[in-house]
Amino acid sequence: MQSVIKVDLGPQSYNVCVRSGGLDELGSLMGGLNLGKKVLLVSNQSIFRHYGERATAGLESAGFQVDNCILPPGEQYKTLNSVQKIYGAALENRLERSSTMVALGGGVVGDMTGFAAATWLRGINVVQVPTSLLAMVDAAIGGKTGVNHPLGKNLIGAFHQPRLVLIDPDVLKTLPAREFRSAMAEVIKYGVIWDVELFEKLESCKRLDQMRYVKADLLAEILSRSCQAKADVVSKDEKESGVRAILNYGHTIGHAVESLTGYKLVNHGEGVAIGMVASSRLAVELGMWDAECDGRQLDLLAKAGLPTKLPAGMDVEEILKSLQLDKKVQDGKVRFVLPVRLGEAAVSNRVDGDVIIQVLKEML
Ligand code: GLY
Repeated sequence: MQSVIKVDLGPQSYNVCVRSGGLDELGSLMGGLNLGKKVLLVSNQSIFRHYGERATAGLESAGFQVDNCILPPGEQYKTLNSVQKIYGAALENRLERSSTMVALGGGVVGDMTGFAAATWLRGINVVQVPTSLLAMVDAAIGGKTGVNHPLGKNLIGAFHQPRLVLIDPDVLKTLPAREFRSAMAEVIKYGVIWDVELFEKLESCKRLDQMRYVKADLLAEILSRSCQAKADVVSKDEKESGVRAILNYGHTIGHAVESLTGYKLVNHGEGVAIGMVASSRLAVELGMWDAECDGRQLDLLAKAGLPTKLPAGMDVEEILKSLQLDKKVQDGKVRFVLPVRLGEAAVSNRVDGDVIIQVLKEML
């Protein structure tokens, strides 16, 4: 499996390389990019145990001088305190303006390392090596970096584009099933908002709830088409002043459900799946998209083993309140991404609270 996708941002352009076994080639792929000599490899304990040695060996054999910063795993460590640890390692190992941080891990490692690189010495290079499917198809591409504030996810951050994204699908062999399903929500999202062919290819697969049911050629399509969709959108609108907002399809209600359930009962992808069902229903209610497409999306999410209803006992008024705190609120109005037709979505801030409540109640 091998493909190269360009994120086209003028002088800040970079490639997303999808290659089986690519982890061993990390050093040689970084070799031609003028990334300095010193590399700080940032990872978490469990990912580093699996892949740290290979990544380090590849970097060293390409002539890089490698030091590590290993953080504890988990969203609860996505804090300024962890970023301080990365700064500490950068200082101790005398990273320079020309040096590079390499993020080896899932979205938490990628976002924190990207933020540390964005701010250390006012900005140094970062290379993203995502090891979860979710990070591969979303977080590693597009330059959104940051950490959580005690009162909300990703409230502290910066845009800082990587110099390279290296995706080695072989590392997915150790990915837990729930994380695979969670990432499938984002993949289905790309099908709905951008790539109808991806949507249809997913429909043609009998089961999508575990990676073992997904043949290698479909996995290759999932990776390359999802990365291409993300690259296309980011290339058009790096800082989310326009079309990039459509990537938040399902995320407005999704984030609210995730946070109201303590980020554990419902994880990110599961929240996005619930949010996609709700947004799709809202779009049907508003006469923007047809019920048949709504049904097709629902079937696909269910086939991926994702939730399509709200968790029992959720208070829909609380969800509405939580929506008001979302980053995507503009001038006090909640902005929803709504599907228009398969492969196309639009942003609307004209969805009435009453319709939201009605749709959410039907999902209980
Ligand atoms: N995950 C949404 C974005 O990168 O814009």
